[in-house]
Amino acid sequence: MENDIVWTPVMSVNDKNIDSQHKEIIETLRKFGEKIVLRANINQVKGLIDVFEDYSVKHLDHEEKYMKAHKFPELDNHKKLHDSYKEYFKDLNKKLKDEQSDQFLAKLVDIERFLSNWWTNHILVEDRKYALYIKSHPK
Ligand SMILES: [Fe+2]
Ligand SMILES: [Fe+2]
Repeated sequence: MENDIVWTPVMSVNDKNIDSQHKEIIETLRKFGEKIVLRANINQVKGLIDVFEDYSVKHLDHEEKYMKAHKFPELDNHKKLHDSYKEYFKDLNKKLKDEQSDQFLAKLVDIERFLSNWWTNHILVEDRKYALYIKSHPK
């Protein structure tokens, strides 16, 4: 994909576990983009979306516990962003349920673009906020 995303050290939030989860998320998105280009069959792509939703939602939950443990004062706002991401998947799954393959393939590019933009912005802008807070307020 022309808007392929890669994890770079500037995305680090100074936590090994969370960084590796972010890397996994970005890597999965890259594979998703490849599958679209290769026009993989619809069930493969739906399967990948399910796995991605599951993994990324687990990450968000892990991150919320991490922010709570470090008493990040803007946890509530951050949680709202995570919640709206979860809502996006709820809607998406409803829409995908009845999709016919032709229409579905056309929408994949938009889904991939949305997710790539969401994750790039979220890691670089929003996750950075707790990373900076925790760095300046060590336990
Ligand atoms: Fe994150
Ligand atoms: Fe986050």
